[in-house]
Amino acid sequence: MKNIEIIITKDGSIGLYNKSLGEIYHSKEGAKTEAFEKFVMPCLPLNKKPLNILDICYGIGYNTKCAIENFNTIKSIDCVEIDFKLAKKSFEFEYKSTKNINKIIKENLKKPDFINFYFNDIRKIIKKLDKTYDIIFHDGFAPHKQAELWSEDLIYEIIKKLDKNGLYCTYNHSKPVLNALYKTGITIGKTIKKNRTIGTIASYNSNLIQNPLNNFELGMLKTKSAITYKDKNLNSNHKLITNYRNLEIKNSTLETLSHYLKKY
Ligand SMILES: C[S@@+](CC[C@H](N)C(=O)[O-])C[C@H]1O[C@@H](n2cnc3c(N)ncnc32)[C@H](O)[C@@H]1O
Repeated sequence: MKNIEIIITKDGSIGLYNKSLGEIYHSKEGAKTEAFEKFVMPCLPLNKKPLNILDICYGIGYNTKCAIENFNTIKSIDCVEIDFKLAKKSFEFEYKSTKNINKIIKENLKKPDFINFYFNDIRKIIKKLDKTYDIIFHDGFAPHKQAELWSEDLIYEIIKKLDKNGLYCTYNHSKPVLNALYKTGITIGKTIKKNRTIGTIASYNSNLIQNPLNNFELGMLKTKSAITYKDKNLNSNHKLITNYRNLEIKNSTLETLSHYLKKY
């Protein structure tokens, strides 16, 4: 793990920084706080029934750990992570909780009970997962570093795995990602903290979405800046995907975002 640096985030929990990618794994404001506020808290309304959860980009597992801490009945958690070493590394970091969460996960890694690990590219795994999920966490690195984790093709496959009354959650609220979600026909909402959008929540059941995108925000998805990332065969690399998107933007006749904003 030579290219990974440990940082102490503002809530005292450990966060990681990837030196070669120049990208953080966790918010500097608090790795544990981020897992709760952007992923678990928005899904608490579903905490009435046994849950099947999909954790995409497990990393060192904050979202899964926070889910185990906060949900009463979890039927299963499927965790997908490309880097096996990270999952092992996570046991070095204490996760403060009344439940011994690291022990629960370690045992499941040895002998899966309700937690299953898939150490592979999510793009190779997603079509093979044979259930629908009540909750899906999507926590990839930012699109300008790893566009392959946010293509409309991958998002389409992810949303196909969501139960009709399930919730999809991500910290990402960039326009290409919102537009990719919009194209699936799902209702999209904002996760809000102190009047600021900190993430996205989406569901087929619009009753579950408290702060849906308004008409002004939906209008932005029709501008050039919301042109999605494409990865038709789920096997292109970041450079190819971004080059193709840049070309699409260049050739597009759609309105620019700045022009759209000036109208309001
Ligand atoms: C922002 S970090 C996730 C942090 C994590 N949720 C946590 O709580 O520690 C992004 C993660 O995506 C993983 N990743 C990158 N490309 C991937 C891929 N194609 N499939 C699955 N995981 C991937 C990285 O190894 C990294 O751990």
